[in-house]
Amino acid sequence: MNAQPTINSEHDDFSVKIDKAAKNYGEVVAVKQVSLPIRRGEFLTLLGPSGCGKTTLLNMIAGFEAPTAGTISINGRDVTNVPPHLRDIGMVFQNYALFPHMSVFDNVAFGLRMRKVEKQKIARDVEAALDMVKLSGMGDRRVKQLSGGQQQRVALARAIVFEPSVLLLDEPLSALDKNLRTQMQFELKELHQKIGLTTVFVTHDQGEALSMSDRIVVMSKGEIQQISPPLELYSRPVNSFVASFIGEINQLPVARVKRNGAATAFAFKDGQVLDAGADGRVFPDAETEVSIFVRPESITIADTDGPANNVVGGTVVSHIYQGTHTVTRVETAAFGQLDMRVGGGQIIDQKPAGSAINIHISLENAVILKAGASSKI
Ligand SMILES: Nc1ncnc2c1ncn2[C@@H]1O[C@H](COP(=O)(O)OP(=O)(O)OP(=O)(O)O)[C@@H](O)[C@H]1O
Ligand SMILES: [Mg+2]
Repeated sequence: MNAQPTINSEHDDFSVKIDKAAKNYGEVVAVKQVSLPIRRGEFLTLLGPSGCGKTTLLNMIAGFEAPTAGTISINGRDVTNVPPHLRDIGMVFQNYALFPHMSVFDNVAFGLRMRKVEKQKIARDVEAALDMVKLSGMGDRRVKQLSGGQQQRVALARAIVFEPSVLLLDEPLSALDKNLRTQMQFELKELHQKIGLTTVFVTHDQGEALSMSDRIVVMSKGEIQQISPPLELYSRPVNSFVASFIGEINQLPVARVKRNGAATAFAFKDGQVLDAGADGRVFPDAETEVSIFVRPESITIADTDGPANNVVGGTVVSHIYQGTHTVTRVETAAFGQLDMRVGGGQIIDQKPAGSAINIHISLENAVILKAGASSKI
């Protein structure tokens, strides 16, 4: 048969395909069986706690670790047994791995020289890469004379100087202070938009993942828990691990689903009831036990004119003022301690620690999952 190449072929849609890849180090299972297609041009983030297997998975894509099982392909080519320098990837390592005594130029040029690229082309390419990371004119500086943020840019320039088809970044911003980190987040995102490189970014910082990514892969203990765009991950986590890991969230005690016509309510063991109303959402069957997760922004001070249902009494435990808002912790008899998020800082004077408070819990954006489901989907 005469196969015609089509624009929509798999080869065109995906830069990287990880197929049932696993990695064991002796007894340690670093990555269980992971399958993950990575779209061409997307900014994909691997997110999870320390030790969940992010670096191991990235190193398998890069070729620094061979999978114990499964395959990796890049641009439609099986590279499972291909060494890193022949994979068409650029990588920034968790600790930059720069040569401190060499100049910025020599650090960026290093790989090109290894590949015996012609001298003039090296000069042009290095300057273009330094320009891209806003370090033009800094080629003569020694790396050890640079700030953390500048070193990070050198590492980035070194990774993109080959114009690889995939950029792999292992916690590239973790050593930077908060302001510089935010600035580099913007710059990395702009760089990505400018050159449209397929990027796999590793972080254990959920805020960073939410702000940077087209899609986020949440990992725990060597397994993928959920793959979703940031907004969906935040509003529709599929299990309790993801719900608790992404953003701040309150987990209420286990409740039982009650139905009254089209309306749904949740009954807690001590007789407390929360109404979900009848807003067309699909809830688990009646009498099912569920875990309910409520974001701090869904809890407000109960207004005497507001709805009378879903109001709970409690005592203010403490406030954490954060400039634009305050996180206030409230002790309730029904649900234990709940964190609420209130705009500004007025609540600190209005309701000092120890005050009685009535709070309203909105279930509109609550995450409701069957109780007892394990963290794996
Ligand atoms: N070379 C190795 N030999 C033995 N065990 C290893 C090796 N490399 C990693 N591991 C183990 O594999 C698991 C996953 O490690 P990995 O470095 O991939 O985690 P990570 O998610 O990148 O963590 P971090 O956020 O701390 O960088 C951990 O339990 C780790 O101890
Ligand atoms: Mg790591």
